[in-house]
Amino acid sequence: MDAREMKIKAAEAALAHVEGGMRLGIGTGSTAEEFVRLLAEKVAGGFRVEGVPTSERTARLCVELGVPLRSLDELPALDLTIDGADEVDTGLRLIKGGGGALLREKIVAAASERMIVIADESKLVEMLGAFALPIEVNPFGLVSTRIAIEKVAARLGLSGELVLRQSGDGEFTTDGGHHILDASFGRIPDAEALSSELNSIPGVVEHGLFINMAALAIIAGPAGVRTLQANR
Ligand code: A5P
Repeated sequence: MDAREMKIKAAEAALAHVEGGMRLGIGTGSTAEEFVRLLAEKVAGGFRVEGVPTSERTARLCVELGVPLRSLDELPALDLTIDGADEVDTGLRLIKGGGGALLREKIVAAASERMIVIADESKLVEMLGAFALPIEVNPFGLVSTRIAIEKVAARLGLSGELVLRQSGDGEFTTDGGHHILDASFGRIPDAEALSSELNSIPGVVEHGLFINMAALAIIAGPAGVRTLQANR
């Protein structure tokens, strides 16, 4: 089974959690897009659902495939969000933002009663951090913000390069008009502490650590699909 097939399997399993009439947060990335394709087939068959996309990219795919969309302001309380992740640990802590949509993803997940993460098993890790942590920053004062992040990291015993994400011939810009610093910490033993320290830096808009947000992870591998449930 290749990675795409595993993503489809995880997306299929997630679709079973979607009930008719739900207000649904719809994630970003290649795994979430498999979910959108499957959802669109169901919608074409008469299934009723309203989606709030977590990025312009997801919105475009939903429109193209006929998945009905609303804005988060129109549907401020959602039943369920289905989204992918760059890393998932067994405590259901996540790194997200590889696709640059972490801010809207976090806002949408936080507005949802429940979040389900879908991933192929390459995303499952013992400890977060091998995937560079995306940190969304305001372009104003970028150098100061970078220094502040380095100080916070050093206090927590973390080090590693902070790379300003590029796209085409310039800096990558998120849907919200911000930039992303990808932090290669390697291992993040205390994700909770790092999360709150990063949140205290004014130039940090948001970061890709999603803690206590996912209720369920659906992980697909060659041997089949398994689920991890949050202990909350
Ligand atoms: C988008 O910003 C990310 O948070 C994605 O959810 C994450 O990068 C997973 O993407 P893939 O499913 O493409 O690996």
